[in-house]
Amino acid sequence: MNYRHHFHAGNFADVTKHVLLVQLLRALQKKDRGLLYLDTHAGRGVYDLAAAAQGDSLARRPEHPDGIGRVWARVDAPAPVADYVALVRQCDQEWGNREEEAPRFYPGSPWLARKLARPQDRLALCEKHLEECAALETEFGGAKRVAVHAMDGYAALRAMLPPPERRALVLIDPPFEVQDEFAQIVAALREGLRRLPAGVFAVWYPLTVRARTEAFLAALRDMQPPPTLALELALAGENSPLKMKGCGLAVINPPWQFDQECKPILEWLAHALEPAPDGGARLEWIVPE
Ligand SMILES: C[S@@+](CC[C@H](N)C(=O)[O-])C[C@H]1O[C@@H](n2cnc3c(N)ncnc32)[C@H](O)[C@@H]1O
Repeated sequence: MNYRHHFHAGNFADVTKHVLLVQLLRALQKKDRGLLYLDTHAGRGVYDLAAAAQGDSLARRPEHPDGIGRVWARVDAPAPVADYVALVRQCDQEWGNREEEAPRFYPGSPWLARKLARPQDRLALCEKHLEECAALETEFGGAKRVAVHAMDGYAALRAMLPPPERRALVLIDPPFEVQDEFAQIVAALREGLRRLPAGVFAVWYPLTVRARTEAFLAALRDMQPPPTLALELALAGENSPLKMKGCGLAVINPPWQFDQECKPILEWLAHALEPAPDGGARLEWIVPE
């Protein structure tokens, strides 16, 4: 396991995923009944953007200026993006950044979910990398209704579903370090849906080679899942030399009207994140409602 999310924290893919995650949680919380938020690949919870740059032996160019850096100070953001940026600012301040100009600390998905959790909600955060998991434990270990698990996130779907609440949002956000990651996701979804057919499953995926993305979406379709929406943001088109050209979030059982809520968000992000002329946003029902 070589992947460290530190080097990517706050990049365009994190911005896209986290804006949609906040929107998804807000939509699900319109119903009073509590829910389980299961983060199968949780990461460390909060990232120090300055430390990431210093600790990078490859001296890569930091990615966050082209992500959170592009939306941080925008005054024309639509309400859901402004909502997300306000949460990022809150995390940054709570972690001690007094500098308004740029963020120093960036929240991961567990931090955002924890901030939005109501008393009736519960969080299960799984992280296999022991160092990342220790950081997660330090951040959330003592928190009420939050459980941190040093375990394989795919096994968590078997171990934790169905939850007593009978409602869950499962975020599957793997590092795509291994060749068969898409196959593992599909197998996990099959199991998750068998255990909780009405659960909401959100899967983050990279846009590399279009054929690979289409094969994944076709495999989802073949499972005959409940309604499934694919939300994508491409920074560059198929012929770009960039390895990761964009990213997507496939959402099984999205809340009512989630597609209509997300369309303007994606379109705004597609503008704000300054994609190449052949990039842009895409929203498609993989399995229609
Ligand atoms: C993309 S990062 C997660 C980012 C996080 N979800 C967020 O949005 O802030 C992927 C994480 O999965 C962890 N990981 C890799 N394989 C795993 C597995 N099988 N089970 C659980 N965690 C795993 C990595 O250590 C890494 O921290």
